[in-house]
Amino acid sequence: MAAEVSSKYAVQMHGITKRFGSFYALTDVDLDVERGTIHSILGENGAGKSTLMNVLYGLYQADEGEIYINGKKVNIKNPTAAIENGIGMVHQHFMLVENFTVTQNIVLGSEPTNGPIALNMRKARKNVLEIVKKYGLEVDPDKRIRDISVGMQQRVEILKALYRGAEILILDEPTAVLTEQEIDELLAIMKNLIKDGKTIIIITHKLKEIQASSDMCTIIRRGKYIDTVPVKGVTEDELATMMVGHAVQLVVDKTPSNPGEVVLDIQNLYVKNEQGINAVKDFNLQVRAGEIVGIAGIDGNGQHELMEAVNNLKKCKGKILVCGEEIQNRNPKYGIDHGLATIPADRHKDGLVLGFSVYENTIMEKYRTEEFSPGGRINRKKMRSFAEELIKAYDVRPEDCGPRKAGALSGGNQQKIIIGREIAQEPKILIAIQPTRGLDVGAIENVHKMLISERDKGVAVLLISFELDEVMNVSDRIAVIYDGHIQQIFEHGTVDNRTLGRVMAGGEIEDTELEEIKKKVQAEKAAEAAGEDVSEAEPAAEVIPVALSEETAEESAAETAPAETAFAEPESEEPAAENELTAENELAAENETAEVSAAEAAPAETAFSEPEIEELMAVNETAEIADAADADSVRTAEEEEETSGTSPEAPEVPEVPETPEVQEAPEVPEVQEAPEVPQEETLAEPDMEQMQHELEQMQQSLVNLQKQIAEMQKALSGRQ
Ligand SMILES: Nc1ncnc2c1ncn2[C@@H]1O[C@H](COP(=O)(O)OP(=O)(O)OP(=O)(O)O)[C@@H](O)[C@H]1O
Ligand SMILES: [Mg+2]
Repeated sequence: MAAEVSSKYAVQMHGITKRFGSFYALTDVDLDVERGTIHSILGENGAGKSTLMNVLYGLYQADEGEIYINGKKVNIKNPTAAIENGIGMVHQHFMLVENFTVTQNIVLGSEPTNGPIALNMRKARKNVLEIVKKYGLEVDPDKRIRDISVGMQQRVEILKALYRGAEILILDEPTAVLTEQEIDELLAIMKNLIKDGKTIIIITHKLKEIQASSDMCTIIRRGKYIDTVPVKGVTEDELATMMVGHAVQLVVDKTPSNPGEVVLDIQNLYVKNEQGINAVKDFNLQVRAGEIVGIAGIDGNGQHELMEAVNNLKKCKGKILVCGEEIQNRNPKYGIDHGLATIPADRHKDGLVLGFSVYENTIMEKYRTEEFSPGGRINRKKMRSFAEELIKAYDVRPEDCGPRKAGALSGGNQQKIIIGREIAQEPKILIAIQPTRGLDVGAIENVHKMLISERDKGVAVLLISFELDEVMNVSDRIAVIYDGHIQQIFEHGTVDNRTLGRVMAGGEIEDTELEEIKKKVQAEKAAEAAGEDVSEAEPAAEVIPVALSEETAEESAAETAPAETAFAEPESEEPAAENELTAENELAAENETAEVSAAEAAPAETAFSEPEIEELMAVNETAEIADAADADSVRTAEEEEETSGTSPEAPEVPEVPETPEVQEAPEVPEVQEAPEVPQEETLAEPDMEQMQHELEQMQQSLVNLQKQIAEMQKALSGRQ
């Protein structure tokens, strides 16, 4: 029930209804968020959480309902209005300019100037550093976005909102892309913000995080308001039950495996990373029929490159065998034809063609078969009935989503389509990379059950997951990857996550110690089974940073993509002949290179909806700067400032060689930023001029070199 309108609430949304066509994403939803609190929103995939927040941020207009900020009724017609009302939003997909530095990104659109044109980047940098310090949001202001981790990029987004004066911060699934350690850091930052009187609304599927962070939690189910409860005093089970509407099994229940023949056999594998360095080295692993092998490891230990090689997206040295047949250094289709199915980590880039309908996405790997394209034409009736079955079996919502663009579905429901499609391939080896990321607890339970049921059917399953608990619970064997190779392998139930953490950091556990750990773990399990409380004896699972790779955010377009379908579905069950394109033409996402599938085929406009573009425009008010897409334009203003002598902070003599070497080019930003210490007292005027001149020349040549490097890298990656 909605609370009385009062100034003690930072946000009140009353009776919010939002329709997409005839579909009700939200029906009469209330949200009351007290100022200075952390308020989480919980709901299944597709429940309407992001839609509700997009309404608050002005990306969508509600069809019905009112919004009050600090007790005053407001009309938030676009993100600019939201910002004016002190609302900031960190989307799961970041909106940063990769080539710009942290500072440039933060101030973009709100740059302090000296007079009408000249930018005062030094002042901007100082302001940014003040916010960084105030909230413990440590981030290097001079680094370029493309050079920092996803966790750091998220901080930049938070800084961006704070820089614009946000008092109310919306975080949409902020932890889905973070390592466990980064999650802890984010929670600490959130607490700092609250101390300063800010209000935070956070969407997360992770019940533990709600309990660790929030004061109140509002639960939404299928677009309807269920309840708002204080987080203290409510258990994870109770939250899950309220969210799904029935009890959910949070712990994986499985019988021991019964492994058969080796299906996937990786021998002495070496794979290079983007920099040409071996990220995978002397990697050996076997996965047998009827077992689940989980790979645990800290971000950047070769997981990404390993998967690229296995999926034939990258050349490698060594052998990758599926049922005794070498599949390496071919093309993605070759692997698929030999029984390899992959649930990719990045569902937008590698999993779906967002601009294609759900129907079409379900047959991405099958459309050229005789079954679906007899005589080279897609049998759309067959496609639809196949897709409808899959939608039902995997509980993809809404049930009538078949004709919609895949991009219009919520992130979790997109994932269900991919999982269903890959399992329908009846693979011999199923590789699941972070298969439950962004899924609600009910959906996670289903995915785990599916992986186990595939295993029980005799499929070899390789699981790579962000969630250490998931790897530990679901896997029959846990292989720890470290520095590109398998450091150690453990049987299920013989190791705790603290020990795994040690191995993930490069340690090795001796047999005798392992025996001790095994006894302890098994004793704990037995005690747990007997209903004893072991939480006292053993503190809650230690937080260990595990991540697959530096993923860029990926829920993105789902939240905002327009509703129209990619292809108009014919009215009749049997489509008119002229509507039938050939299979080749119609599903352009050719399997030869998996990257093509989504990355290229998905039209750019699905990435941002109009309101999002509007938001970007709002942020990009200074068009010249945005257009430059490089540090050059910003630097020019600084140079102006320096040469005109208005700045007391002249540059220190940089230790840059006369003729800069190619590999030093990326250091440009460091050279560009003038140091903090004023040098006027120690340098005579003529020296200054001379140095300024030399510095400019060097900077120019560095920039040129940098451009050349970028072009060469582009050309190289194009060839790979
Ligand atoms: N632009 C759109 N056009 C059509 N339908 C949409 C659009 N945006 C969202 N929807 C639908 O509205 C419903 C709610 O979506 P929303 O993204 O708000 O879910 P969510 O609760 O954030 O789910 P998730 O946890 O999976 O992110 C979904 O069924 C989704 O398909
Ligand atoms: Mg969402």
